[in-house]
Amino acid sequence: MNGIKKMLLPLALLAGTVATAAPVTSAEGNSRTIDIHTDRLSLVFAAAPGSVLTQCHFGARIDNSAPLAVSGTGVPAYPTAEGFDFRNPALRVTHADGDPNTELRYVSHTSKQLADGNVTETAIRLNDRCQALDVELIFTAYARENVITTHALIHNREKGAVELRDFYSSALSLRAGKYLLTHLYGAWAREAQVEHSLLDHGSKSIESSRGVRTTHTEQPAFLLTLDSDSFNEEYGEVIAGALAWSGNFRLNFEVDESDRLTVLAGANPAGSEYTLRPGETFRTPEMIYTYSNQGAGGASRNLHDWARRYGVYRNTHTVPTLLNSWEGAYFDFDFKTLAGMIDDAAAMGLEMFVLDDGWFGNKYPRNSSGAGLGDWQVNVRKLPEGIDSIASYAHARGLKFGIWIEPEMVNPKSELAERHPDWIVRMPGREAPLSRNQWLLDLTNPAVQDFVFEVFDQTMQLSKKIDYIKWDANRNACNAGSAYLPAAEQTRFWFDYTQGFYRVLERIRAKFPDVLIQACASGGGRVEYGALRYFDEVWTSDNTEALSRARIQYGTSLFYPASVMGAHVSAVPNHQTGNRTPLKFRLDMACAGRLGMELQPRQMDDAERAFARKAIDSYKGYREIVLQGDLYRIGTPYDRSGCYAVLYVSKDKQRAVLFTYCLQYQGRTLRPKFRLRGLDPQTNYRIRELNVEKPRFGFDGGTFSGSLLAEAGIEPALSKLYDSGVFLLEAADSEQPIRTAPTGSRSGLR
Ligand code: GLA
Repeated sequence: MNGIKKMLLPLALLAGTVATAAPVTSAEGNSRTIDIHTDRLSLVFAAAPGSVLTQCHFGARIDNSAPLAVSGTGVPAYPTAEGFDFRNPALRVTHADGDPNTELRYVSHTSKQLADGNVTETAIRLNDRCQALDVELIFTAYARENVITTHALIHNREKGAVELRDFYSSALSLRAGKYLLTHLYGAWAREAQVEHSLLDHGSKSIESSRGVRTTHTEQPAFLLTLDSDSFNEEYGEVIAGALAWSGNFRLNFEVDESDRLTVLAGANPAGSEYTLRPGETFRTPEMIYTYSNQGAGGASRNLHDWARRYGVYRNTHTVPTLLNSWEGAYFDFDFKTLAGMIDDAAAMGLEMFVLDDGWFGNKYPRNSSGAGLGDWQVNVRKLPEGIDSIASYAHARGLKFGIWIEPEMVNPKSELAERHPDWIVRMPGREAPLSRNQWLLDLTNPAVQDFVFEVFDQTMQLSKKIDYIKWDANRNACNAGSAYLPAAEQTRFWFDYTQGFYRVLERIRAKFPDVLIQACASGGGRVEYGALRYFDEVWTSDNTEALSRARIQYGTSLFYPASVMGAHVSAVPNHQTGNRTPLKFRLDMACAGRLGMELQPRQMDDAERAFARKAIDSYKGYREIVLQGDLYRIGTPYDRSGCYAVLYVSKDKQRAVLFTYCLQYQGRTLRPKFRLRGLDPQTNYRIRELNVEKPRFGFDGGTFSGSLLAEAGIEPALSKLYDSGVFLLEAADSEQPIRTAPTGSRSGLR
């Protein structure tokens, strides 16, 4: 983990005063601007000492922002519902003496370069006119990635406790003619569905109050297309935002009487009042923003670049392809079953075997979801040989080894629940509802944090050959209550649970910096940048059916890079949807992310295994482009055309890989057309189709200029439902002939 990531780590409470370095720019006399910028993005504030800090601009870079200080266009940058600002407040507190008002005024600001010279941090210090309450707004600008992240520090210097009621990370003000909001919604097994809505006057909020597993139904991320009512991949001004927080979140979009939009983003304050004691500092989660004038595609690419370099625990160039045992074996396995799966995985060229749920519990064996959670000892009846022998078996066959845990949870049928009823999240005297037959453990309690850390630590001690942990979390928090928190401060549960989770992950990463860890929460319940500071990848959905995956992967790609997106091939009929799709379609879909398989290979026939082996092999040849390249989405899986593609282009534009999918029968008259933007127009690319026995299209093997591929495009004759094609494009020797007809038809078979 590099230095900058360390600085992004959340700390809820910092004792002592807010440290303020000597100001490099201090506003004196008249208002002047505070300019926070990246290569192509500016965020401009204006202030004078003792005056309200206003935000004057967020958007394309402005080189001389000084005139904005006197233009009078700014709006309060961190609203507190003071004076005539009646917008929803970013900060609302009850002071120690009962005063419910806050009037923040500018004090000073400082700016410093961090780490590699690409990152600049600006801290703007404000304090209340009447009460001893300080707020520091911290902005971190990532020049090359065009990302600005921000959080607030709220420091109580009052004589008594301050009640925090609203405590958002940021308030962003925008002024445009139209605001098109794009966000993700869904549920278990249909996560990351895309919805667009034009914002009109009033407030719309996207939020979660589920405590844990917060991203199934809504994502703490959004795109805003300005001055347009249509979503566009390539053109127009688009702002993207994403909150790095694994707990309850709220994004509030308020269009006021001046047609101004204010976006409040942060931990969800609903029902989460927080008592800030004298001398304490509250740190809000980090909010991430980017801007592009190249449409949604540009905004996504900025986020992906930032994520790979700064936002995700590790930026891995190659990740092991894997076989996961879940859908192939569920709870029903022994050493022989697993060894057989490992042999088959090795034969198909997969590089890791992951043993999922079901390996633990003795008094209450984990043979279903009904028992055993909490008792992380190897089930000696099922696996008398122990985990080390399976891990060693995998290693001996050249595979890495991974194992599943769900350490935040407990089944009532477990020795842990018998031993520690006080560790269960519930209010004394109130029933704790079960979900998937389990309860949540109270991570606000340091003893529970120790336990969860030890579960991880002891699992790692089961074998020296554990390379990967799948960390699951299969329920929400409800009827919350903590035996650890004081009775009068139960509402801090929502914030402190997430902080407890992060504290455990800090310890885990300090001890196990190299182990790969996947964040899973009944599929895509923990897909967000708070978790990704510690995890290498996310499981986006328990729905592994390839047609559903087209939408899930598309939605996920708006905010998260393919390098974190686990994508598995499973059996047909699919266990969630019952749908049957061809193996090629399933592989071509999963190869657009971190490829894995999740089935019983013995149920595949020889031809299928041979095909999978070939596709896995070709994936290994281009996966670095998928994981590290720039993503250009071509259309969407929601399009009426019924065809969709994604193009990943290597940073040096020498190689690219194109995935094309037919999601609807095209009949005899339609032929998909894909324009390949993102290539270098001057470079000639040789196109080769992968995962086929012989060339299918006339253009296969041909060489075409990047400009021709962008303007004329290619027209592979994919027409049947679930037809798909994967094409590798490589910069060609300029002496090769340039073909000019990049269309293809089945009659063009050679
Ligand atoms: C959750 C996960 C699955 C699998 C099961 C095991 O549902 O999302 O991938 O690990 O738990 O119980």
